[in-house]
Amino acid sequence: MSISPDVVIAPSLLSADFSNLQQAAQAAEAGGAEYLHFDVMDGTFVPNITFGMPVIKALRPYSKRFFDVHLMIVQPEKYITPFAEAGADGITVHAEASPHLDKTLSAIRAHGIKAGVALNPGTAPDFLEYVLDKIDLVLVMTVNPGFGGQTFLPSMISKIERVRSLIERTDHPIHIEVDGGIDTLTAPRVVSAGATALVAGTSVYGYPSGVAEGIRVLRESLSAGR
Ligand code: DX5
Ligand code: ZN
Repeated sequence: MSISPDVVIAPSLLSADFSNLQQAAQAAEAGGAEYLHFDVMDGTFVPNITFGMPVIKALRPYSKRFFDVHLMIVQPEKYITPFAEAGADGITVHAEASPHLDKTLSAIRAHGIKAGVALNPGTAPDFLEYVLDKIDLVLVMTVNPGFGGQTFLPSMISKIERVRSLIERTDHPIHIEVDGGIDTLTAPRVVSAGATALVAGTSVYGYPSGVAEGIRVLRESLSAGR
């Protein structure tokens, strides 16, 4: 069976060695990752603090891959322009943090980049119906956001299926990205449910024989489930 080339792998730098992010980004790229996933946390929307625009800007010259920026911050609308100017190819904001979601999504697309909406595990996907024409990606959190290395929540499988049925009505492509606890066991399950982009931190950057091998076994696990 062939390995699914259609599913995007997005290694999360959250699980990389922060003292050498340039090497971490290049290792993911060399291993065939299509996206690089940046987890921006503010210590308010989520309990953890990571990094912001300067880190993305510093890494931009070292990779041509899609910079997939996941904002786990309050008031994300204030930071769309700075993240776009830092080099984001796509910005995903949390529905729970965005009271003016429609407007924020338009602001992202006005920069000529992709717009995404993230849903915490407790958030129902139905309201997506009203912003479907403005999104390129739905990020289904499969853990509660804030930290890498958490356990996948199996109850999110039915949410992925629900999102898939919602986006079937659209006339433009929308990725369903999953984030949290994705490894060789959970990846085939989420892809069967409809996921088309896999964020993976621990399973890629923590893979004992290296990042490239972590990406390879993750991709290979998809063909086993088909
Ligand atoms: C969690 C972040 C994830 C995280 C995933 O809040 O959004 O991107 O890095 O890490 P793993 O793959 O270790 O669950
Ligand atoms: Zn993330």
